[in-house]
Amino acid sequence: MTATIIVGGQWGDEGKGKIVDYLASQADCVVRYQGGNNAGHTVVVHGREHKMHLVPSGIFYGKLSIIGNGVVLDPAVLTREMDYLGSQQISLEPLRISECAHVIFPYHIRQDILEEEQKGSSRIGTTRLGIGPAYQDKSARVGIRVIDVLDGEGFPAVLRRNLDLKNSLLRRVYGDPGFSDGDYRDILERYQAFARRLAPFVTDTAVLIHDAVTQGRNVLFEGAQGTLLDLDHGTYPYVTSSHPIAGGACIGAGVGPTLINRVVAVVKCYTTRVGDGPFPTELKGETAEFIREAGHEYGTTTGRPRRVGWLDLVVVGVTRRTSGASYLALTRLDTLSGLETVKICVAYRHEGRRLDVFPHSLKVLAACEPVYEEFPGWEDIGPGVSQWTDLPAAAQGYVKAVEELSGIPVAMVSVGRERVETIQLASVF
Ligand code: IMP
Repeated sequence: MTATIIVGGQWGDEGKGKIVDYLASQADCVVRYQGGNNAGHTVVVHGREHKMHLVPSGIFYGKLSIIGNGVVLDPAVLTREMDYLGSQQISLEPLRISECAHVIFPYHIRQDILEEEQKGSSRIGTTRLGIGPAYQDKSARVGIRVIDVLDGEGFPAVLRRNLDLKNSLLRRVYGDPGFSDGDYRDILERYQAFARRLAPFVTDTAVLIHDAVTQGRNVLFEGAQGTLLDLDHGTYPYVTSSHPIAGGACIGAGVGPTLINRVVAVVKCYTTRVGDGPFPTELKGETAEFIREAGHEYGTTTGRPRRVGWLDLVVVGVTRRTSGASYLALTRLDTLSGLETVKICVAYRHEGRRLDVFPHSLKVLAACEPVYEEFPGWEDIGPGVSQWTDLPAAAQGYVKAVEELSGIPVAMVSVGRERVETIQLASVF
């Protein structure tokens, strides 16, 4: 029996989709535990690219694919994904949706946009998909769960109450026209239709997951975003509203910590960030352009160009501690091919002092200078590489350096978009 959590070790977009997709073939069950359609996973199956936001990639293998209670669910996006999977002849039979997941409504999206606009230059740079407002409602104990939408008798009144609440916020605070009675009827009908469509997949997923783990199945918990976007441990307030770290899986899937065996932190061989907030190893100019273009570093969800920088092991240190990472899965080694030298940030310098631990004051962080170690680059990693011995010596040296400097063994190295372009050095199940 192995329960393995996959977390993003940086600011999201580490290539978790590819790693989860690769490991899904060895798993019996894949579970999403937090976030929503702010996440975007690109998986390449038999040379075909699929962009998914909510449905776990286990679906491509016919594995039990669970959307856990910690996810916030936009049913318009989910049903679109289900239509897409159907059009690709991929069976939806293994899909399960938690009855306790909170649901995103059009007023959450409107609120997200208005909040960002009101913040002006101090905006967070959210995906504007209503994620934060849906989690706000959950914490305020006025959210609407999947099970509430499925309650045919109770749902109309709950929706009316919430729309009235939101209208007073939208109108009084933001001067927005809010949602009319016609809008209410339209939302009600659309969500009742979603409920009919989703009902066959809805269940108490915590029970399913517990059964799978205790019956000796390989269960993969798939985190979205990354450690530095964690509500508690990230660069607050430039964070998402959920818990991408490993502990988030316990809450967002309803599984006890004693049932978890391993945590794999997915870390890209350089760093990227979308949205605003400090980023000590950020690069500008030629090298940034080179990496952005070579790595196609544009958001899967928003299409925004990602900010790019060298690998930052002070950041990875936060993941090592907060998620108790057992292994690293290093991604995008191929993207760095062609650079003369490659840098790794091993500490920061702040007002003449060396910092080995990530500072949580954004003021301090913004004033930090990275302390780098420099390594020789490598010319090229050919297509289809799946063996360690096929890597150029300098690329091997880089991976070894990451392992030593981070203190976390490397279990996997991804060297291309295809599933086969993965070097597995240790089993994570
Ligand atoms: P939200 O999750 O839409 O509220 O956005 C909050 C912050 O998290 C913003 O900086 C987003 O750019 C960032 N973010 C959210 N989801 C992702 C993701 O999947 N990858 C990278 N950044 C993300």
